[in-house]
Amino acid sequence: MLTHPEGSDAHPSPEPHVMWSSRFAFVMAAVGSAVGLGNIWKFPYMAGTNGGGAFVLVYLGCVALIGLPILMAEVMIGRADGPSPVGALRSLAIRHGASSQWGFIGAVGAVTALMVLSFYSVVAGWALAYVPKIASGDFLNASGSHSESVLSQHLADPLALGAWHTVFIVLTILIIARGVGRGIERAVVWLMPALFALLVMLVAYAAMEGAFLQGASFLLTPDFSALSSDAVLSAAGHAFFTLSVGLGAMIVYGGYLPAGVSIPRTAILVASLDTSCALLAGLAIFPLVFANGLDPEGGPGLVFVALPVAFGNMEGGNIFGALFFILLAIAALTSAVALLEPMVAELVSRGRNRAWSAAFLGSLTWSLGFISIFSFNIWADVRLAGDARTLFDWLNLLTSDLLLPLGGIAIAIFAGWVIPRETAEQQLGVGSHVLTAWRVLVRYVAPAAVTIVLVDIALK
Ligand code: PHE
Repeated sequence: MLTHPEGSDAHPSPEPHVMWSSRFAFVMAAVGSAVGLGNIWKFPYMAGTNGGGAFVLVYLGCVALIGLPILMAEVMIGRADGPSPVGALRSLAIRHGASSQWGFIGAVGAVTALMVLSFYSVVAGWALAYVPKIASGDFLNASGSHSESVLSQHLADPLALGAWHTVFIVLTILIIARGVGRGIERAVVWLMPALFALLVMLVAYAAMEGAFLQGASFLLTPDFSALSSDAVLSAAGHAFFTLSVGLGAMIVYGGYLPAGVSIPRTAILVASLDTSCALLAGLAIFPLVFANGLDPEGGPGLVFVALPVAFGNMEGGNIFGALFFILLAIAALTSAVALLEPMVAELVSRGRNRAWSAAFLGSLTWSLGFISIFSFNIWADVRLAGDARTLFDWLNLLTSDLLLPLGGIAIAIFAGWVIPRETAEQQLGVGSHVLTAWRVLVRYVAPAAVTIVLVDIALK
C-alpha cells in the first residue's frame, strides 16, 4: 500500500489517494470482489431454474461479450478519475464536453450496491450458520430430505438469520473502516487457492459418488427450446452480477489502480478465474443433486441443501464442510466490501470520515436486510400484485435483472460515446484492432443486446 500524489488533482479528496500495492494486489482484490456467492450460491441455482446448458451458454457469451468489455470500461473510468464513482463520471463527462448529469449513474449504482448487500449479507449469514452445523455433525450420513429440512428450519428462524446477518455486516464494516486494501489483499491471497482446491475436491467427489454424467450434461448440453427471454435476461444480469459490474464497484477499485498496469489483461484474468469458479461449483453440485433425488429447480436453497449431503457422507466431511463454508463466507466478505465501498468512497470524497461512513451505511443496509430475512418466515406469504415471488426474490430480481444491466449499459455508453477513442487507447494500452473491437462492443453490442431483451420482456 502506498500513497499516490497524482490522482488527487481532478477532485481533491480529503483522504490520501490510496493505491493497491501492486498489480497482483489489484487482481486479488478484483477477483475477491468477483468471486463470491454469485459463483457458488447463485450461479448453480439460476442454471437449475433456467433449464441448465442453454442458460450456461448464454451466460458465458454475456460474460465474454458484454461483461468483460464493461469491466474494462469501469476500471478505465476509475483509474482516469476515481475512486468516487459520482465524481469520476461527472468530472470525466465535463472534461470531455458532456453533461455533468452523468454523475447520477454513479449515485444510482452506489444505492443499488447497498440494496444488493442487504440480501447478500443474509445469504452470507447462512454460510456462517452452516459452519457450526456441519462441524457438529448435523449432517452425518444425511439424506437429501434431511438436508432440506435442516435448511427450512434454519430459514424459519428470523432470530438466527438476523444474528448471522449482523455478524456478517459488522465484519464488512470493520474491513471497510480500516481502508481498502490491507484486509482484502491479505485474505484473498490464500483464500482463492484454498477455495479453488476445495471446489476441485468436491468435483472429484461428485464424479465418484454422484450422478456425474447426468449433472455435467444438464449443465453443459444446451437445450435452446427451454430458454425463455426471462432466462436470457437473467443470464445477462448474472454476467454483470458475477463480474461485479454495473454499479460502479470497479470504478472505485480502478480508482486505486496504479498507472502502468494493463487493464485488459487484468480484466481477462479476473473474468476467467471467476467463470472457472462458477463452472466448478456447478459441476460439484448438479451430480449430487441428481444422485440424491433433489430438485435442480430448488431455487436459492440449492447449494445449502446439496453440498451438506456430500459433506455428511464423506470421510472427514465435518471438517471439510466447515472449512468450505468458512471459505465461502470469506469469499462473500471480499465481495461485500466491494458493495459497501462505492457509497463509502463517495461520502469520503465529500469530506466524511471513513469509519463513520462505513458504520452509518452498514447500519442502513443491515436494517434493509430484514426485508429479506422476513421473506423466509413471517412475511413468507407476502406477495406483490399476485406474483409468485417473495420480497427477497423481488430485491434479487430488481437489482440483478434490471438495475445492474441498466447501470452496465449506461457505463458502456459513457465509455464508448463520451470518452474519446484516444483517451481509451491510452488507458487500455491495446493495439488498434483490439481497441476497435472493444469500442464496437461497448458502443453498440452491449447496449443493443440488453435493450432488446428488456423490451422483449416488457412487451410480453
Ligand atoms: N460479484 C459478486 C459475486 O458474484 C457480487 C458483487 C456484485 C460484488 C457487484 C460487488 C459488486 O458474488
